Amino acid sequence: MRLKIKKILKSDDSIIGKKIKVYGWVKSVRDQKNFAFIEINDGSSFSSLQGVIENSNEDFRKILEISTGASLCLSGEVVKSPGKNQTYEMKIEHIEIIGNCSEDFPLQKKRHSFEFLRTISHLRHRTNTGGAINRVRNSLIFNTHKFFHAKDFFYIQTPIITSSDTEGAGDLFRVTTLKDLKKPEIEDFFKKKTFLTVSGQLNAEALAMGLSDVYTFGPTFRAENSHTSRHLAEFWMLEPEMAFCDLKGDIELAQDYIKSMIKAILKENDEDMQFFDQFIEKGLLERLNHVLDSNFEILTYTKAIDTLLKAKNQKFEFPVFWGCDLQSEHERFLTEQHVKRPVVVIDYPKDLKAFYMKDNDDGKTVAAMDILVPKIGEITGGSQREDSYEKLLKKIKDKNLDLDIYKWYLDLRRYGSAPHSGFGVGFERLLQFITGIENIREVIAFPRAAGTCDF
Ligand code: 4AD
Ligand code: MG
Repeated sequence: MRLKIKKILKSDDSIIGKKIKVYGWVKSVRDQKNFAFIEINDGSSFSSLQGVIENSNEDFRKILEISTGASLCLSGEVVKSPGKNQTYEMKIEHIEIIGNCSEDFPLQKKRHSFEFLRTISHLRHRTNTGGAINRVRNSLIFNTHKFFHAKDFFYIQTPIITSSDTEGAGDLFRVTTLKDLKKPEIEDFFKKKTFLTVSGQLNAEALAMGLSDVYTFGPTFRAENSHTSRHLAEFWMLEPEMAFCDLKGDIELAQDYIKSMIKAILKENDEDMQFFDQFIEKGLLERLNHVLDSNFEILTYTKAIDTLLKAKNQKFEFPVFWGCDLQSEHERFLTEQHVKRPVVVIDYPKDLKAFYMKDNDDGKTVAAMDILVPKIGEITGGSQREDSYEKLLKKIKDKNLDLDIYKWYLDLRRYGSAPHSGFGVGFERLLQFITGIENIREVIAFPRAAGTCDF
């Protein structure tokens, strides 16, 4: 019977005496003359399985051939382990070498820098950290679907290729089949200018007007030339959209979602999280439990600017004034120093935000919300959407956007418009927040960023 290592290690004593087969990759081989230990891992759990083979076994000689990284099938009996590091181990009866590993395998048993591991992204998920990140990432996706399913949201799929720039920020990757970009767009594949999507929001809004509560979750693309530890050119975004929901409801859902994800990961990925706490960010578990125990602080943009201006002994590189875009240093000050927990900044000046956000009564600000967390800064951006046809039309014109492109979007305000809100969670940033991993390029298997598109 083939068993995953996780199943064996998490089993109860009823597994003792069972004859099983385990497939995986060798972490280490230790030859003790009379017997040898083989540590094997199949990625199903942080811990590896220890196999013991006696020198009287005719496969014992094979241990001389096996190198770290080789793939094997071990057959044998599960026994109680006399060692204190594991409850069960395997008494090996047979070793089958499936694929041996060349001597120059770069992942020998020692610590490697994250920078080096990035150059071998096709192998790095075999390290302790790489395995843990991928397991937590998987868990987070699964729990995201569970969370929204339990709230009767519909999982929808929005297009990757689009003709609209949702955020109006202009950081778009063009999609074209034209050999000569000077040729008119009408000769292009779609007979118009098209791009990779920066956000599925506009299409999600269309589906929310009819299905009420929906979410889209997929890759999004931004040609931002940012060489920071929080920017990718291809990242995953989770975007719920709710009809009959205002900014307050939007913030409540976002807070509920983030806390629920932390709770789920702490419960389901205990071993991986203990590892992150010990080796990646000391005090990670305490930090996350603190987030669970506290409510996110809600701060208006105006109050945030006031706070930054009054910050004593704090020098900022970028000037602070009402109307300035909050830079990472400002965001981090608010969440790390000022309130020491996540902050929701609301009511930003309308000139700083996208055209679709609802105007507040003051005429200067919009019903926007950004969630800022310690170490990372902005993790979520959302808003209540403008639901008045006239106001939205004026906003599109004021921002000099192409009316033709947004005609269908305006229709949503003509045919049974309803107040609605949503937000976008940068999925890799959420992963950074939960794992304590410093650089966003570590939490996605094959990172794409300015100047980087390997593998
Ligand atoms: O704040 P943003 O630009 O908001 C939107 O795109 C809205 N349409 C979302 C919505 O209301 N449905 O992006 C949302 C989040 C940010 O808060 C950030 O966490 C993440 O996406 N993000 C990035 N993550 C990694 N690399 C980048 N280049 C990112 N740009 C944004
Ligand atoms: Mg934003």
